[in-house]
Amino acid sequence: MTQAADPAATLAARLAAQGKQALDLPDDLEQAIRDLKRERRALLLAHYYQESEVQDLADVVGDSLALARAAQKADCDVIAFCGVHFMAETAKILNPDKPVVVPDLEAGCSLADGCPPEAFAKFCAEHEGAAVLTYINSNAEVKAMSDLICTSSNAVKMVEHFKGRPLIFAPDRHLARFVAKEAGRDDLIIWQGACVVHELFSAQGLEKLRMQHPQAEVLAHPECDQAVLDQADFIASTSGIIQRACEDPKRVSIIATEDGIFHEIWKRAPEKKLIQAPGMDESCACNRCPYMRLNTLEKLYLCLRDLTPQVTVREDIRLKALAPIEKMLALS
Ligand code: 13P
Ligand code: SF4
Repeated sequence: MTQAADPAATLAARLAAQGKQALDLPDDLEQAIRDLKRERRALLLAHYYQESEVQDLADVVGDSLALARAAQKADCDVIAFCGVHFMAETAKILNPDKPVVVPDLEAGCSLADGCPPEAFAKFCAEHEGAAVLTYINSNAEVKAMSDLICTSSNAVKMVEHFKGRPLIFAPDRHLARFVAKEAGRDDLIIWQGACVVHELFSAQGLEKLRMQHPQAEVLAHPECDQAVLDQADFIASTSGIIQRACEDPKRVSIIATEDGIFHEIWKRAPEKKLIQAPGMDESCACNRCPYMRLNTLEKLYLCLRDLTPQVTVREDIRLKALAPIEKMLALS
């Protein structure tokens, strides 16, 4: 009989192979994390795509907007951010004097990676005179070139802020197309980025699933492809989807976003039947964010214990990125 690998032992072996210190992990990691949070006066923020055990330890679990709001109000000595890099970076921009630690610095985002600052500066220069509205899934340098930031839960409202002005929307082309339709703006200048997780839901597979469950409601994130959004009964951010799913606990929901959100839905509505929308490749878990899932309890414990790795932002970039973030928070 084969035995499942012990994740703590695997991580220890990996770090030991890299010549790092012995890990000396406690037996009760959850309790050790709670103790460290208290000793360090740390605020633990977690996105809904985190592993359930990480969500359960967090002080605030939310979508990108709720987490930015929580970071803005943070009353603590340390912020520990369990999400992806751009989220922790936003927290750092809002809290320059606090250490912002993350379990894994490699937890990035395909949208942020697909919009490099030099290329984006060129794109903006090619559309001189246009205002710049940037999705929060972008890095600090790109935010620093923006007039306003948005998240999936306030994007339509933020677009409406630029009535009558030429407007660049970056970096997600699917969210851009969705908000363009909702806000009646067919003239948006769109950066052609995409999320590698949401783009891989299968429209054909979803069609079949809907036929098998004709009473089910399809709830989708606006980062999905148009052919998937065309079949959705409701399109919203992660927190919008969670809220909607819980409004009618007896109705089956087909969910076209990362299945990390199931944990929160089942906490609020334990009887709720949820079906993950199918991916293009049924043999892989492609609709699970590979970046978000790099964060583990072991790495969370270590970052709180050692206060590393920390997210840093150059001060001139931070100041330029802060203005459009604060503007969004004031308008939301
Ligand atoms: P939300 O703001 O809806 O939580 O989305 C963040 C995200 O990265 C979705 O892929
Ligand atoms: Fe980025 Fe997509 Fe992961 Fe969200 S799900 S963090 S958009 S890669």
